[in-house]
Amino acid sequence: VENVGILAMELYFPSQYVDQTELEKFDGVSTGKYTIGLGQRKMSFCSDREDIQSLCITALQRLIERNNLNLHDIGRLEVGTETIIDKSKSVKTFLMTLFEKVGATDVEGIDTTNACYGGTAALFNAINWVESSSWDGRKAIVVAGDIAVYGKGPARPTGGAGAVAMLIGPNAPLVFDRGIRASYMTHAFDFYKPDLASEFPFVDGKLSIKCFLSALDSCYNLFCKKMRRSDPNFKGLLSLDGMLFHSPYSKLVQKSLARICFNDYLNASPEDREKQFPGLSEFSDRKLEETYFDRDVEKAFMSYSQQLFAEKTQPSLNIAVNVGNMYTASLYGCLVSYLISKSPEELIGKKFAMFSYGSGLASTMYSINICSDISAGSKLEKLITSLHDTVSYLDKRVSVEPSKFSDLMEVRTKNYHTAPYTPSGSIEVLFPGTYYLVNIDDQRRRTYERK
Ligand code: ACO
Repeated sequence: VENVGILAMELYFPSQYVDQTELEKFDGVSTGKYTIGLGQRKMSFCSDREDIQSLCITALQRLIERNNLNLHDIGRLEVGTETIIDKSKSVKTFLMTLFEKVGATDVEGIDTTNACYGGTAALFNAINWVESSSWDGRKAIVVAGDIAVYGKGPARPTGGAGAVAMLIGPNAPLVFDRGIRASYMTHAFDFYKPDLASEFPFVDGKLSIKCFLSALDSCYNLFCKKMRRSDPNFKGLLSLDGMLFHSPYSKLVQKSLARICFNDYLNASPEDREKQFPGLSEFSDRKLEETYFDRDVEKAFMSYSQQLFAEKTQPSLNIAVNVGNMYTASLYGCLVSYLISKSPEELIGKKFAMFSYGSGLASTMYSINICSDISAGSKLEKLITSLHDTVSYLDKRVSVEPSKFSDLMEVRTKNYHTAPYTPSGSIEVLFPGTYYLVNIDDQRRRTYERK
């Protein structure tokens, strides 16, 4: 099979958001900390009316409807999430309710979990399946979603919520390069959820940034090495049209692009350094592992990479900045933003790299090519049109005061383990077509309806 990749895509984020400028005031932090310091504008969140299952099924249903999918043509359904509501039963099994209705039950795949990386792992499973001897000719669907919430404190403004659904198969407009995925996986306690009684993670903020950047260094260098095997002229960032990152908050993404340039600088020959990186010679003997918090290196390469950032990365951040961290869906939200920042004609033939990071930690850099094949062209056009519609929901959301947001968080926290339970969150405020939680019974079985 040829050109395996993404055929269609949908994104769902909740209809309520809190404005980060207002949140700065409410939290009593200095003006600009969340908006300039973290680079965030708005944060989507949900009340107790939504949970991970409703988020995922809403995204999936939209994908099915918009693309008129015959569910008998789907042979694999994968879910990536770290929002756990059951220690045994997968979200995938809940999503089967849509398939069961039409008698389609021959569907492989279950959930995959490791922080923000689960969506990428699920996606790789789907691609691997299509490219494997187990493949039966049908398509796969990957759903990745999370509700990212933090306890009160400095991490709270880096929350978010949302889900993506992706249709995977051959002859796709977005094609995954083969044999060049570069991974870096180690053991770290940077962000983890050991308290099963709470929805909140344990976070070591500083360590999580160091882990993110060191994973990026490793993946990027290995990625370049693998790329050069097939293309000896591969020149790192200069050979890529786009560079997309998992986005916990957009400032970290901008720093990550600067970090990529620092890697390119260290890897360049002395002559190339002079030519390509004028005025940066003082950094020639700096080491990657000693510079995660080196202000001089950061400042110099942030300023060096400003134009490259504007070209290759910033177009991917619209959803990340306006929705917040969707964990497993974050990188795929960046893909959506990147795609709709250009016309289909501009996109044809483009190549970009994707960096997926999940604390704990698991990370991979891989690349996507936009197929220049004519038959893929019309699929690309259709994909872009549908994504424009999906993203237009950003402006249809309602702003909620931070005090009300805080109260709704409190309701979620207090009732995280209550059963039986009837949610109190507004149904009125939900977008049409949204699934919502109706009830949790005394056996903790959840029932849903669709608005
Ligand atoms: N105006 C402009 N900038 C400001 C202002 C202001 N008034 N006040 C602070 N800043 C800047 C700071 O200088 C800092 O910038 P810098 O990083 O360039 O130095 C930035 O805003 C953040 O301020 P800090 O004081 O460093 O923030 P704090 O330590 O309170 O929290 C953190 C930030 C650690 C990211 C926290 O939000 C967190 O723990 N988030 C969750 C973990 C996370 O997202 N980690 C990333 C990778 S792991 C993952 O994906 C979950």
